[in-house]
Amino acid sequence: MDSIIVRGGRELSGTIRIAGAKNAALALMPATLLSDEPLTLTNAPRLSDIKTMATLLQSLGAEVTSMQSGKVLGLSSHAVTSTHADYEIVRKMRASNLVLGPLLARHGQAEVSLPGGCAIGARPMDIHITALEAMGASIELRDGYLHATTKGGLRGAVVPLRFASVGATENILMAASLARGTTVIENAAREPEIVDLARCLRAMGAQIEGEGTSRIEIQGVDRLGGATHQVVTDRIELGTYMLAPVIAGGSVECIGGRLELVSAFAEKLDAAGVSVEQTANGLRVARKNGRPHAVDVVTEPFPGFPTDLQAQMMAMLCTAEGTSVLEERIFENRFMHAPELVRMGAHIEVQGGHATVHGVDRLRGAPVMATDLRASVSLILAGLAAEGETVVNRVYHLDRGYEHVEEKLGQVGADIERITAP
Ligand code: EPZ
Repeated sequence: MDSIIVRGGRELSGTIRIAGAKNAALALMPATLLSDEPLTLTNAPRLSDIKTMATLLQSLGAEVTSMQSGKVLGLSSHAVTSTHADYEIVRKMRASNLVLGPLLARHGQAEVSLPGGCAIGARPMDIHITALEAMGASIELRDGYLHATTKGGLRGAVVPLRFASVGATENILMAASLARGTTVIENAAREPEIVDLARCLRAMGAQIEGEGTSRIEIQGVDRLGGATHQVVTDRIELGTYMLAPVIAGGSVECIGGRLELVSAFAEKLDAAGVSVEQTANGLRVARKNGRPHAVDVVTEPFPGFPTDLQAQMMAMLCTAEGTSVLEERIFENRFMHAPELVRMGAHIEVQGGHATVHGVDRLRGAPVMATDLRASVSLILAGLAAEGETVVNRVYHLDRGYEHVEEKLGQVGADIERITAP
């Protein structure tokens, strides 16, 4: 297993190009199952999760061609040969459950393994199931798989979500696009990745209104065609790299960054004494004057502060002036980066869904363990300003969601290298 070594103390300067959004691409790729015409995705991120989704779709009989070293994906599913999403693939990546809606809508059946829990929480699917049953699906849990069928096809329904689940909203959006009649999703997730999926489905011929708001209305159509769609910028990668110059000092321009993708996050940075400037090419970030100061953070569904930036923000707050309280409201176990940051000299107390961070002058490098995707990158960020050497192990977590992190940070002056295990 590879490790990444970071030697702290260098100020950063230059530009980092932000890739297409992992969490948009993982919803856009299964959309190919809705049509027998080709779907082309441009600005696709080059990540292991994308490869996992491609493997899953190919196991269903879809064709996935990677072009321009992975930046363009050609997908087609004119010959779906299976509706079985196997545990061996689904257990590695929860987003595999996004084949459920499309398979049901176009093929009338699906056997999708329950993902099982992951490091950050139990990750149930009750909201997906309740919604699809309201649309006429029969879904039974047997042998760890959801066995879903629908006699006579899905029908439109009013679907109130008890929580604005991103994945459930995406599954319903895709299912409703081919259902008979009108579907209204109430308390829909509003994330930019939802908006991106709706735009792609509309290009394929879907009739959708209201994406980005809590109420989305979908008028089912008989069939969907092909499309070419550019994947939206990754707002989580953007926020992650915006924090690099805040932690290490200096100034970095994140190419492709747009303020509206990270507005709640940028407001917190402003309150912490950080300048975020929209330039013609992206977002330029630097400390306003000296050490950032403490701010409190509560994670919420979009447009609130994103849970996927909580670990990275905590890394920054470890060396901010003062005491910050972070409240994690989305996942039940998303502070596993805290004990690793404490090993680097951070002063953090965790009680349930709250973490109190008392800022210290400097962190000290140490060997640390990555536990999930965002926790991993928070340790890399912490290492940028730590005295000495930080060795982050198990970086396969990182490679799921970040393209060549050592190259992108190295380009702006970080002393960082990947050690490939023999
Ligand atoms: C998406 O996961 C993202 N993944 C996650 O990013 C992100 O953290 C999450 O949305 C919240 O923004 C992808 O888009 C591939 P949810 P998803 O359904 O769809 C509970 C990353 O680091 N819930 O909005 O699984 C659930 O347990 C990943 O890139 C139910 O209880 O998130 C969680 O506590 C991590 N029942 C909360 O809702 C359900 O049926 C949010 O889940 C569904 C969800």
